[in-house]
Amino acid sequence: MTTRTTTRRTVLRWGAAVSASLVVPSAGVAGFVWAGAGRGNVGTLTFRNRLPIPPELDASPGAALTLRSGESRLLPGPRTPTWGANGSILGPTLRARRGARVSVAVTNRLPETTSLHWHGMHLPAIADGGPHQPIAPGATWRPTWTIDQRAATLWYHPHLHRTTARHVYRGIAGLFLIDDERSDTLPHDYGVDDIPLIVQDRNFTRDGRLDEANLGFGGLATTGLLGDTILVNGGYDPFVEVVTRRVRFRLVNGSNARVYSLGFTDHRAFTLVATDAGWLETPVRCTRLRLSPGERAEIVVAFDPGERVVLRSFAPRLGGNLLTQRLAGGDDTFDLVQVRAAATLRPSPAVPERLTTGVRRPAITVPEPFRLDLGEFHLNGAVLDHGRIDRRVAAGSVERWEIRNPGQNVHNVHVHGASFHLLDRDGAPPPEAERGEKDTVFVPANSAVTLAVRYGTHVDARSPYMYHCHLLAHEDAGMMGQYVVVGPGAVARAHRHGE
Ligand code: C2O
Ligand code: CU
Ligand code: CU
Repeated sequence: MTTRTTTRRTVLRWGAAVSASLVVPSAGVAGFVWAGAGRGNVGTLTFRNRLPIPPELDASPGAALTLRSGESRLLPGPRTPTWGANGSILGPTLRARRGARVSVAVTNRLPETTSLHWHGMHLPAIADGGPHQPIAPGATWRPTWTIDQRAATLWYHPHLHRTTARHVYRGIAGLFLIDDERSDTLPHDYGVDDIPLIVQDRNFTRDGRLDEANLGFGGLATTGLLGDTILVNGGYDPFVEVVTRRVRFRLVNGSNARVYSLGFTDHRAFTLVATDAGWLETPVRCTRLRLSPGERAEIVVAFDPGERVVLRSFAPRLGGNLLTQRLAGGDDTFDLVQVRAAATLRPSPAVPERLTTGVRRPAITVPEPFRLDLGEFHLNGAVLDHGRIDRRVAAGSVERWEIRNPGQNVHNVHVHGASFHLLDRDGAPPPEAERGEKDTVFVPANSAVTLAVRYGTHVDARSPYMYHCHLLAHEDAGMMGQYVVVGPGAVARAHRHGE
């Protein structure tokens, strides 16, 4: 009973804050909103620091992550207190091959309880690391599972309800790369021609600390925190040297709320080879790539000897009205990292014309679609209740999700323990860059998207998987639901009892 009352009041308070801010901006606010061409950092960087490359760590039995606090040299000037895994900021790049048995001991040396979630991993819910697997200070959590999915760029981050935004913002996140028998057909020399780029925006106080002032949302900040300083792999103002003709970049949007539209300053075309859940069937040529929080992409870019070019985020289109576009960062342009090509470049094989097979979207097996309305800031009118299982789904089934975002806020949807294909975006076939397998989908303001979600096969009626908006302030506010995977008979029984 108490939970319900609190929940209700909280939703009302947010609703009030949002409508007030969107409908009657004061003169001062209007000045801020409409002046100039958005924020950004173009022209302010000198690309003076070598891009940090997180060390690799084999995720086989014996692998250990220790979450701890520390200090990082980020901006010029004083060091910044940050959190990290096995270091002071971010964490190692875990790696495992398809079919391998994985085991990671996660020890929490932070001053508060947290959790560590393997975003994009198909694994038993008990090993997922969501809000149901908290790790108390001083405790060690030891999930084990078998890698049962294609090569992909996954990532890990804390996922405790109400503190995810803060824990990720302070620096805990890392990559989890899965390799399979095809992995060697694309550039794969880690840190040389296979380079991770974890992109995160931050705000700093004058004395060089991470500014946590707008981690939540309210008033004008309906997305949660948008930072004016970009870190890539936990490094500020970075450049990276490349020594091969073609380079694969693994892009991860590890930001709390910011959406990026990535491209190069000379507008060169690049080749998209993978999205969240793995390789595309055929590569896609593009000049821009939109990534919302939690999404990943792998691109292959060709360079000429001796050239320099900057990877930039051009103002992304976020849907909705002009105010939404401005307030959610849709007018902001950021330089991310400068690429410096060596005077002579080693040859690289061309990207194969066909990357993989067998990733076609599966046929829907569940008769009724699941309708998911994204509200401000709840799902189908409800906020998360840990004790309430929102959905029971049959192991291995494929369900049609009809997602609508009728409002003026920007959201996305991430589903744990599953991956999906887009069936349409606003009634039209999805853009080519979104035709691969994914686990997170952007849902701009005032838009709709339809998915075919294929559930995992690990039956466990007691341990839920989460689905939620991956704007971390929204997620922390309870814009999250939970489902359990059960045997087909159990779903039928639940329907008969009107659950
Ligand atoms: Cu990236 Cu539920 O998480
Ligand atoms: Cu996830
Ligand atoms: Cu949201």
